[in-house]
Amino acid sequence: MNVSREEAYVQLTPQLIALFKGESNLYANAANFSAFVFATLGFHWVGFYWVHEVDLVLGAFQGPIACTRIAKGKGVCGTAWLNNETIVVPDVEAFPGHIACSPLSKSEIVIPIRNSQRDVIGVLDIDSAVANDFSMVDRNALELWVRILEEACHG
Ligand code: SME
Repeated sequence: MNVSREEAYVQLTPQLIALFKGESNLYANAANFSAFVFATLGFHWVGFYWVHEVDLVLGAFQGPIACTRIAKGKGVCGTAWLNNETIVVPDVEAFPGHIACSPLSKSEIVIPIRNSQRDVIGVLDIDSAVANDFSMVDRNALELWVRILEEACHG
């Protein structure tokens, strides 16, 4: 998009809300969420991992093939699940235990997905091929977009 990232989030938010209208299935909406973010913002990898027992298992995504299973507490994704918090990684090589699915990923944000009881049921993972690509603007907007996804699916 030929506008600032901040302006892009403002313009795209109503489109994201419209995308979920009439559909409350989490996996269907997550699949479209990943395609929407990938197509509009041009990140290297956008996708979901879902909690299955003691692991996160790969869900819908856009981008290069990725590792299928991440244990709780491992990598950026497993740490975000364990700590129940968003993690922004400006330099993936500086994050102890980072799991490298693609050598092109330089920075990353992982945001927990919660159910209506506020339990973590998965994570959104976005990788950028640009170092230090996720500012507070991205964090705030993407956390809002995750809340929009959650609310569309809580029913
Ligand atoms: N880098 C992630 C693994 C998933 S891929 O980036 C798609 C991590 O350290 O958890």
